[in-house]
Amino acid sequence: MNIEMASIKSVKAREILDSRGNPTLEVEVMLVGGTIGVASVPSGVSTGKYEAVELRDGDSSRYNGLGVLRAVGNVNNDIAAEIIGMSALEQQVIDQKLIEFDGTANKSRLGANAILGVSLAIAKAAANFSGIPLYRYLGGAKAHPLPVPMLNILNGGKHALGSTDFQEFMIVPLGAANFAQAIQMGSEIYHFLYKVLKDRGLNTNIGDEGGFAPQLSCNKEAIELILAATDLAGYKAGEDCFLALDPAASSFYQNGKYVLSREGITLTAEEMVDYYANWVSNYPIISIEDGLAEDDWVGWVLLMAKLGREIQVVGDDLYVTNIERLERGIAEKTSNSILIKLNQIGTLSETLAVVKRAQKAGWRTIISHRSGETEDTTIADLSVAVDAGFIKAGAPCRGERLAKYNRLLRIEEELESNARYPGKEAFYNLVKVKS
Ligand code: PGA
Ligand code: ZN
Repeated sequence: MNIEMASIKSVKAREILDSRGNPTLEVEVMLVGGTIGVASVPSGVSTGKYEAVELRDGDSSRYNGLGVLRAVGNVNNDIAAEIIGMSALEQQVIDQKLIEFDGTANKSRLGANAILGVSLAIAKAAANFSGIPLYRYLGGAKAHPLPVPMLNILNGGKHALGSTDFQEFMIVPLGAANFAQAIQMGSEIYHFLYKVLKDRGLNTNIGDEGGFAPQLSCNKEAIELILAATDLAGYKAGEDCFLALDPAASSFYQNGKYVLSREGITLTAEEMVDYYANWVSNYPIISIEDGLAEDDWVGWVLLMAKLGREIQVVGDDLYVTNIERLERGIAEKTSNSILIKLNQIGTLSETLAVVKRAQKAGWRTIISHRSGETEDTTIADLSVAVDAGFIKAGAPCRGERLAKYNRLLRIEEELESNARYPGKEAFYNLVKVKS
């Protein structure tokens, strides 16, 4: 292998569309030896307020102001000149250079979308140059545990207006023997959910992440519907398949209170914690993400104290894949798990550092998509590379969601007898989930 051939020859960004039809970036890196790496950038809508900045044009004459031509220009005119000639095999050096070149704490000068597109395209080019798949390039020879999928089969909140207050109701096939069986279980329950909704005269339209988005009178009804579907599919809830929630509570946090408009109630943090505790004792829920708002650190401590021994308490908007916020969470014991989103922080190296730090603290990690996605499958490889334990990539429906699950099916096949599906072992507390 001639290492000089791994030098970056060109970097080119373009504007493409994401799964909501909004503009995003695709970046193509070419190495001197001709190897290419292509990556595209996702986009959230229930974004945390401390996320790195997604640079949008704000030019209302194009795409309602959502164009990304400035970010594209920043890649093609500025970033390219900075990194051409550097070795694609030096991911950390390049990411550090991008961070310094941007020069702001939240990547607002060049745009975290511009920077992430380049960072990921470099990694893909380097993996291609090395002649190995991305999960192996990032994770080394030990990269063979598949993640447990968390499939968001009922969408509410900002992903499906008019549905539930809570944003995501997920099923978690911990009892499957392998990843392929987990996906089969997820898909079967998903299709039985369609039948349950149809039989009850409820709407079967789908939300941004491919889950159904019926109009329900209360949040609990979503759980009851999913349990009915699980039963019809022939699986045992609490043994084969479990439930996980992402209420995305920042989206219904107003003036220090939690406003559940579907149910006409307003709760304090303490009451909200009791609400969840009641659900956890009645239903096979193993994970609650963003149960409280991104600034309610005190509330999170309460939530952890009450439920942290039983379930995964997951911070998404709370940490925004940011090492400083994670350190605060570890110190204050605000959760026992973290959601990982590449575009919340903006480079691959910073993301890997956050995963490593969380794992060192004994936390569980969930590699996550965004509600606005593309056909890019980086997160599938990443989840295997870091032995994340879990991946969250939406319902088993819609091409941009299935691209990730299908990639993992291929990886499982490629790993043959080395493939390992952790199942119940992925969950941090085997006492609650008996293996
Ligand atoms: P987003 O939501 O991608 O719309 O921000 C996903 C999540 O909250 O986990
Ligand atoms: Zn979330």
